Amino acid sequence: MIYDLIVIGGGPAGYLAAERAGHAGLSVALIEKRSLGGVCLNEGCIPSKALLNSAKLYEHAIHSEKYGVTVTGAKLDHAKVVERKAKVVKTLVGGVGMKMKANKVTVFMAEASIQGKTAEGFAVKAGDEVLTGARLLICSGSVPSLPPIPGSKEGLEAGYVMTNREILDMTTVPENLCIIGGGVIGLEMASYFNTAGSHVTVVEMLDHIAGPTDAEISALLLKEYQKKGIDFRLGAKVVGMEKGAVSYEKDGKTEKVPADVILMSIGRRANTAGLGLETLGVELNRGAIVTDERGQTNVAGVWAAGDVNGKSMLAHTAYREAEVAVNNILGKRDVMRYNAIPSVIYTNPEVACVGMSEEAAKAAGVDYVCKKLSMRYSGRFVAENEGGDGLCKILVDKKYNKVIGVHLIGNSSSEIIWGAAALIETELRVEDIRELVFPHPTVSEIIRETIFEF
Ligand code: NAI
Repeated sequence: MIYDLIVIGGGPAGYLAAERAGHAGLSVALIEKRSLGGVCLNEGCIPSKALLNSAKLYEHAIHSEKYGVTVTGAKLDHAKVVERKAKVVKTLVGGVGMKMKANKVTVFMAEASIQGKTAEGFAVKAGDEVLTGARLLICSGSVPSLPPIPGSKEGLEAGYVMTNREILDMTTVPENLCIIGGGVIGLEMASYFNTAGSHVTVVEMLDHIAGPTDAEISALLLKEYQKKGIDFRLGAKVVGMEKGAVSYEKDGKTEKVPADVILMSIGRRANTAGLGLETLGVELNRGAIVTDERGQTNVAGVWAAGDVNGKSMLAHTAYREAEVAVNNILGKRDVMRYNAIPSVIYTNPEVACVGMSEEAAKAAGVDYVCKKLSMRYSGRFVAENEGGDGLCKILVDKKYNKVIGVHLIGNSSSEIIWGAAALIETELRVEDIRELVFPHPTVSEIIRETIFEF
């Protein structure tokens, strides 16, 4: 048979695209080599959140006296946390499989390799079978960047150097954990293992953590982390690693950090190697598939969505990119916009941002006004965060009086930020937002309060 659509990769982009296309009546084949759900469900977003939730519960328990609750004997049992994480992953992976069935998607658990184009369509090998599809959607995701830092290859082989995949399955808590890279993965793992009892050192090349996050928010997060005892070496370039230590250079000097386990979290790159894209002449840019705003590649009938296009590398971006591609495949016009994609760091405290940071607005020459309020202006936040604080920072474009950036630090931020994204996406003006009714008492009211400052 000739499938209407062959999807390569069963992560958030691939499984959502297959589901939507199947639902619309297309015959769909989905090829996945490891496990449905991809990195997000199996070794990324979901398992890390399971771990971080256990850390949050444990922290609540050990600080419960502040809330008038006595908890004795609180203990974080890491092996049990990892066991529960595996159960959560299994449930959700099973759910994806059921969705595929419900939408009549044929799933091939095999490695896909593109063979080229024939008169019938695109030929893709899935294990021993060769499938033919009228269209191809590539959702092969990303893999960790592993530059050849001296000692890293040996460490990865021996198992004391890990990526996000291995660290999430580790059943013991290392005494000394050294994290290379203070980006999202590094910070979330630092947060968990610090609570679990490791001495955590983060070695970061830049002079700040959390990459493109608004500088003020990132500085506040750094302070919170330092208070918890996480050790940061900023402006430090890793030059080597061995069993027991990581070496880095800072200000012309070489220093060593003790490390029983080393996590390499220095970014990810598009996963295009070995797919056979060259048989079709699909254009790549630094290894990522080049797509237009609809997800179309330079080859008619070949589409791509998710991390493989190297644009945003977030699961929620992947979902939307997949939807956009499928809509266009179905003949419905739809385009991808990247200006209101929220980003969240699920640490304790949470950080959530959408739109332009102050630094980005300045660099783009936008004439903006910025207002800030402490999270303590939210009654609900004060009731639930004894002695805690956070910040809400909103940027408004002076010319149009529209919100262009919302940056939050403080718990519950992750559940609020989609609303802020909606304000940006729908281009509401400050005066329109003032008319919105926010539920009381919620931490989300901090947005309403800050808007009244303009
Ligand atoms: P990242 O790009 O967020 O951070 C990597 C950090 O490593 C950067 O700060 C960089 O300056 C630093 N670095 C690079 N080379 C270095 C070296 N030799 N020595 C010291 N520092 C070095 O990458 P990360 O954390 O690996 O995450 C990968 C992807 O996964 C990201 O694109 C992220 O968006 C996604 N992700 C998203 C999450 C979320 O939304 N909550 C959670 C986890 C991952």
